[in-house]
Formats: sequence, C-alpha cells, structure tokens
Amino acid sequence: MPAKETAQERLRFLREALNFHAHRYYVLDAPLISDGEYDQLFHELLAIEGQYPDLISADSPSLRVGGAPLPQFEAVEHRFPMLSLENAFNDDQLRDFEERLQRFLKSEATFAYMAEPKLDGLAVEIIYERGVMTIGSTRGDGRFGEQITANLRTIPAIPLKLRQPAGRPLPELIEVRGEVYLPIQSFRELNDSRQRDGEPLFANPRNAAAGSLRQLDSRITAQRPLDFFAYGVGEPATLPCASQSELLRYLADLGFKTNPLTRTCPDINAAIAHFHALATERDRLPYEIDGMVIKVDDLALQQRLGNKARSPRWAIAAKFPASQTTTRLNDVVFSIGRTGAVTPVAVLEPVNVGGVMVSRATLHNEDEIIRKDLRIGDLVLIQRAGDVIPEVVKPIPESRQGNEKPIRMPDTCPECRHPLSRVSGEAVTRCLNLHCPAQRIRALIHFTGKAGLDIEGLGGKAVEQLLAVGLVKDIPDLYRLTVDALAALEGWGEKSAENAIAAIAGSKDASLARFIAALGIRHVGEVSAELLSKSFPTLDALMVATRPVQQTDSEPGSADPLREVEGIGEQAAASLREYFNDPAVRDMLAQLADLGLNPRSQEPAGGEQPLREMVILFTGSLSSLSRNEAKARVKAMGGQVASAMSQKVTHLVCGDKAGSKLKKAQELGITILDENQFAALIGGR
Ligand code: IVH
Repeated sequence: MPAKETAQERLRFLREALNFHAHRYYVLDAPLISDGEYDQLFHELLAIEGQYPDLISADSPSLRVGGAPLPQFEAVEHRFPMLSLENAFNDDQLRDFEERLQRFLKSEATFAYMAEPKLDGLAVEIIYERGVMTIGSTRGDGRFGEQITANLRTIPAIPLKLRQPAGRPLPELIEVRGEVYLPIQSFRELNDSRQRDGEPLFANPRNAAAGSLRQLDSRITAQRPLDFFAYGVGEPATLPCASQSELLRYLADLGFKTNPLTRTCPDINAAIAHFHALATERDRLPYEIDGMVIKVDDLALQQRLGNKARSPRWAIAAKFPASQTTTRLNDVVFSIGRTGAVTPVAVLEPVNVGGVMVSRATLHNEDEIIRKDLRIGDLVLIQRAGDVIPEVVKPIPESRQGNEKPIRMPDTCPECRHPLSRVSGEAVTRCLNLHCPAQRIRALIHFTGKAGLDIEGLGGKAVEQLLAVGLVKDIPDLYRLTVDALAALEGWGEKSAENAIAAIAGSKDASLARFIAALGIRHVGEVSAELLSKSFPTLDALMVATRPVQQTDSEPGSADPLREVEGIGEQAAASLREYFNDPAVRDMLAQLADLGLNPRSQEPAGGEQPLREMVILFTGSLSSLSRNEAKARVKAMGGQVASAMSQKVTHLVCGDKAGSKLKKAQELGITILDENQFAALIGGR
C-alpha cells in the first residue's frame, strides 16, 4: 500500500480517470477504454480507499455501488419549487396555448419553442456545489422532496463531479433537474427475474423506476440499470444561457445526458409537426415517453411569463392518446412460454388503446390473478405502455352483474396434457414433461444460448424460426443443418448461413462441463456440470453412473456414485437419473455421438490419463487403501468407476471377500485384478 500522500495523489488521479471514462461510456456512448481496464482502475480505487477510508470524497466513483441502508428518507425543501405541467390533448389546445401567451404579453408575436420528449419516469433534482454533487432528491409535492442522494449516486449517467465547460464558468451552485427512468428492456428483464423468484411484478417501467429509486438500501438501487436525462435547472437566470436550447447544450457540456430527440422549433406549427412525428416513433424508443413538452425557448421570455400556482405559463405538455382504457375480459387461455412456465393470457373484447387494437393481455401468473381478483366477464382496465405487452391493470368491480366466473389454473398442460406442478415458494406453474413440445423449444434455445454451447448466430429468434419451418425438431437436427438449407430461409444469406454452420461445427469441441450445462437438466446448472465433469471424464461415464442403483451385492460402496461427487445433492442426482434413463434422451445422445459430439473433461494440465479406456468395478474390501481413495485414483488417471456389473466394465478389482460380482465377471470374461495388480496399475503402494 502506498504512503498516505502518495495514496491521496493516486486517488485523485483514479477518481478523475474513472469519472472521465464513465462519462465517455454512459453519457456519450463512446468509451475509450475496455470494460476490463475500467474495472482494473475501479478495483485499485476500492483497494486504496479500503486502506484509507478517510480519503473517500463526495465525488468518488466507489459511492456508485451504494451504501448502508437508511432508517428513513429525510425531507429536503427545493429552493425553487418543482412545478408540474398543464396538459394539451390535441392540436387546437396547443394553438390555444400560444394565444394565451400572446394575450399575457399583449403581443401578436409568435415564438420559437423547444420541443422535448416527455419522459415517463421520475423527476429529480440534483444539487452541485462547486462542481461536486452534494444532495439529490425526488420531486415530492413540488416544495418538499425526499433526499435520495445515495440512490442517485448509483446511476452512472449522473455525474458525481461536473465537467468544466469550454470557455464558460463552472457554476458555484446549480440545481439540475431531469428524469430518472428504467429502459424498457431492463424493465422486462427485472420482471422476468422477479417472476422466477416469485416476487410481485412491477406494472410498468415507471413504477419499477420509482420502486428502485425509493429503496432505503442504495445497494439495491445500484443493481437496477436506471438511467437519467437532464432537462432543466432550478434557476436558469444565473447561468450563461439565453435560451432553453443553450441551457440543454450547457448541461451536456457539464457532463449530463440530454435527450437526442429534442428540437428547436421556429413556431408552434413546427412544434405540432414534431409532436406528430414523435408519436410515430414512440413505440420504437428504448424508454417510455407519454407526450412532448413544449417550452418557450427564450429564457428572458420565460421569466416574463412566470408561473401560475402549480405550473409555468411558458410550457405545456402535449399528451399522446391515453394508453389505458376499459374493455370486457371474455376468457382466459393458457400458454406455455419458452421457460416452460404456464402463463395465463386474457382474451379481451378488442379495443383501441393508444392507437393500437388490443385483444390479448398477459396475466403473468396465478398469484397475479388472485391479487387482482379478476373474473371472466369482468369489465377490466387495460393499459399499453410504449411497446410493452398490454396488460390488465384491475377489474372494475362496481360494474359486476353477479354472473362473472372465477379463473381456474388448468391441472394439465394445454400442449401435452401432462399434469402441471407448482413448486411451493414459486409463483410459476410448470409443465415438467421433458417431451412437451413447448419444453422442447425451450431446451433447444437453452442448448444454443449463452448458458449452453453459446452458438453464435443461433439465438432464440433463429432457433424459433428453424423449429417453425420444420428444419429442426431436436438438438441433433442442428448438426445436420447445411449452408444451403439455412441460406434459403427468410432473413438468412450465404454469409450468415456459413457463419452459423461453422459455429455449430465448432460447438462440437465444447468441454463436457459446457455440454452437460447445455442439456438444461433441471437442478443441474453450470456449477454442477463442472463438478460432474471433474468426476466423470466422458458422457458415457456419467451415464453409467446414473444407472438405477442395482443392489446385486450388498457391500458398502455400491451406493449412488452421483452422490459421491461433492456438491451434487439428492435433487440433482434424482434429476440426472430421470434424465439419462429416459429412452428418448438416450436416443438423442446416441445420435449426437454419431454426429461427432463426444465431449470430454478438459484434461488436467499436464496430467496423463493412462486409464482412459478402462471402466473399473470394485468388489470386496481392499486392505491398503479405502474404496473411496481407490476410486479417486482411478478417476484422476482418466478411468471410469462403475457401480454395477455390466458389459461396459473392463476390469474387476477383487479385494477380500469378493462376492457375486467375481462370479459374474468370470462368466463375462472380464479382466480380474487382485489388490497387488491394482496397486501396480495405479502406480505403486
Ligand atoms: S420540464 C416546470 N421537461 O413532466 C417544468 N418535464 O408534469 C416542468 N417531464 O414532473 C418540468 N420530461 O417529471 C420537463 N423534458 C421534460 C420532461 C418533463 C418529463 C415530467 C417531469 C415533471 C412532469 C411535469
């Protein structure tokens, strides 16, 4: 560790560097160094700060990981109130807005406007004193907000320290205002993971952002990929800016992200035209917006126009058509998703929501139906937020007639009629049938995906396409694909087909651990797969070990070889046995072997595998070493250990009091070794 002065200097350098690179990455989307290099700098910072905690400053990037939970949020008074906006729902109301401005100013003049997307997140204020972030708060009731400084520090797009704007001063004090939001993709991923964990789902990205921001434990906030756009300041008068356009440029110079879809409009008609253009782009944006804010561009004019009680006179929110409406819930059907989960889907009386006809909406899972108390025949409130799948918000119980019917989850899978099961503690009902067609899709997508063999060019969409056109039904079919067959499909070309086929061929070299993980056996993830591959050098060896335990001779050691692998519990062992003893699975694996997939454990570095071809069965007790040690030695040298007599066994090692296995081995003509011969085989003793 460096001496304190050196540490201080190094910390200053690291803070500067990390803040600079965070701005390049999160704000400008133009990184100059790799993630690895960034992490290295970050770890060095953490190490030095760990040594000298008193050197941690208010702008240290280490604060971005969150800190100890707060007992409650403190209230902060905004120096200038955070106002809300008046709404306009059509073009006429926007023209009325301009007329009101003209009347107020007793002028016939027209105005230039700044048009900005109205972001659907949470308004916050962040105070910077001499360039360093000091306090961050929610809007609250406009006058008092909640102090959420630690949470706001975790958002990478919010600078901890302002950048020096070229040719302009850094403000002594500035209250930056803007919107914290959760991108739609992150919202979906968050809800997916909450569904897997049986946690209640967020209704929309805005609620998810609010829930994430109002965490007393900022370490939780740090895990949510929140983002931020700046759109204003508490008091523009003190800044070197004459217009809202200049203010946005100034904020960008200070290091903030400003929205790329803002436009300066020479008059109200241009602003209205931009509003209609924005409406058509709305569903393509990676975040949600619910309208467009139109602001008088000139800051001096804004000052003259001033505020009404709750909203400024100089701005208005042009709202998109409502994305909520009511309709009838006609029925509920159940679909088997990619994850094997059974999802209830509402069949609705078709209705126009925010310009799109909607006839179906997700009900997520059984608990959500119960929580919302939905019944078939109910009038329901539905919403469509951005391009998020429409969903049922709640029933309107006041309009019930008394003939509404409760919704029941099915007992059997709608695809394959296999009984469904719901594990206690999980919200999800599943079909556990390994041959369920829906499950098969899932298995294939898992096999080619990141957690499987990670075959480039064969993502979920491509696999679904291959299944849909009938080119692929099961995993082995992937290895029978040809460039010509792929290239003929919609969306594929010669080059992408060649690349995919090359990637498929390359996947044949995957290690045994990856291959086991790719099979997607329940309760057997990447860690278990790794453990198994250490004990069993080949897939065959693993399959031998999963044979039903035969009690041909009742000696110790003929126990389940799977359970002898440290880290493999009964659940995983049972699941492995069920999987590998399924004739369809065995057939599939045999096909894969014929197609050239013979995954092996990565050989231990420099290790020899002299017993590679041997399958050894033990019987009787050994005098010079324990059965477990003997087995470990065999495995370490690349051999396999069998738990019962079979055609696969190549050698029987006989200790004292050998039982029926000896007789059987003699009948089968298997090589029989006594203890000394075995000792010689494994090299001494
Ligand atoms: S300006 C005094 N600009 O809209 C001016 N607000 O109803 C008010 N909002 O709570 C703020 N995007 O959360 C402004 N580009 C934008 C905005 C925006 C979203 C939200 C903000 C505020 C609400 C006002």
